[in-house]
Formats: sequence, C-alpha cells, structure tokens
Amino acid sequence: MRLVVRIGGSVVASPVNTELMGKYAEMLKEVKAQGHEVAVVVGGGTLAREFIGIAKNLGLEMQAQDELAISVSRLYAQLFLKTLGDAGCSRVAFTLDDASECLGEGKIVVMGGLKPGITTDAVAALVAERLDAELLVKGTNQEGVYNKDPRKFPDAIKLDRLTFEELSSVLELNEHKAGMHQIIDPIAIEVLKRNKLRLIVVNGYQPENILAAIRGENVGTVIS
Ligand code: UTP
Repeated sequence: MRLVVRIGGSVVASPVNTELMGKYAEMLKEVKAQGHEVAVVVGGGTLAREFIGIAKNLGLEMQAQDELAISVSRLYAQLFLKTLGDAGCSRVAFTLDDASECLGEGKIVVMGGLKPGITTDAVAALVAERLDAELLVKGTNQEGVYNKDPRKFPDAIKLDRLTFEELSSVLELNEHKAGMHQIIDPIAIEVLKRNKLRLIVVNGYQPENILAAIRGENVGTVIS
C-alpha cells in the first residue's frame, strides 16, 4: 500500500519528544519492510507557533509568519529523516516533485511545510494526491474525531466512521490563520474528497495505532 503519515507537531514537537520520534522511526521502517511505500509529513509544533508570534510582534505579514513556521517544520523533518538513516531519502522534500522523486528511489519521504497559507494537513493531502496514495493516517493528540471539542466538552463522543461531508460539519473554523489548530484543516478535506482518499485520524502518542490503521483494524476515526 502507498500511504502518507502525518505526524502532528503537537504530538512529537510540543515539546520535542525524542523517545516518541525514535518509536515513529522504528515503526515506519517496519512499515517499509512490510512492502508499503510511505511519505511522512511533520508539523512545526509549538516552536513554529513561537516563531509565528515573534514574526507577528515584529510586524511581519502572514506570509512571512508562515514561511518561518515552514522552516521550523522542515527542521523537524530533517531531524526525523536523520533518525530514519538509510531507510529515508537523502534530503527533506521541499516540493511535491521532490517527494515523488524520492519515493521512486524506494525510500521513505519526509516533508515539513510546503507553501504559505496552508497547514501540514493540507501538505499531507497534496502529497497523497500527487503520489496517488490510498490512505492518509493522521496522528493527533486525541483518540480520533469527536462530535464536539473534547477539550471543552467532557460529554463529547468519539466517532468511529464518518463521511467528509459529516466531518466538515463537525469543524467550526474554516478560515486560515497562521498557527491555527484543529482536527484536520478544510483545505486538506477538499483535496482528500476530490481524490476519494481515505483518512484515518488516530491517537499519535501510540505509533502502533498507525500500524493498526494500515492493517484495517478498528482504530481512531475513519473518514471516507
Ligand atoms: P501545522 O499547524 O500544520 O503544524 O503548521 P503542526 O504543529 O503539526 O500542527 P498540529 O499542532 O499537529 O495540529 C503550523 C503553521 O505553519 C504554517 C501555518 O501557519 C500553520 O498553521 N504552515 C505550515 C504553512 O504556512 N504552510 C505549510 O505548508 C505548513
């Protein structure tokens, strides 16, 4: 199977969790050894948001704020790529062409941000589209998608399966702001929808959830 794994910056980089990063590297090497083709997209976490704040305080525009956040995510991507050793590409993919070229070499693609105005969710969806992947797995800091924000509402219920239309109606925020944070961004949803790609949102603190998602086990929330 060809798949894209999106690791939330909020999971591995807020603050940096080297143990978890190491576990992800081992898990992804195993996925590759099983014959799957993988691209990984990592976010910039709190450090990216710190840089966005600094840029804002300096009076810089949103594009500059985004560019700084992208640089931070690429730094984490580089760190992660080094951890993958020989299994990973020779360098971080900066473009969709880079990603495609690297996958063609039989290596694990690692990417951070792509361009201003989007989030790494959208990057992951665009990579999935470009690589003709069949699955995107997102590791988040929640067990999956809930009917309402579980951080605000203790009675929120986790949904096992839903359509992209249903997902859109669950999300309240639809406008891009630098550093915005939500389950999955609306641009990503559009890209996934038009390509009929499957998305599985899992708890990213347990990398084995990604393996379970690949095996088709009942984990997280499946959106299709
Ligand atoms: P993300 O919000 O995607 O990173 O990007 P993250 O840390 O992985 O997010 P969570 O916490 O796991 O959900 C951080 C910010 O970087 C800019 C945007 O401002 C985005 O909100 N960014 C990122 C871009 O402008 N373009 C990109 O391609 C990626």
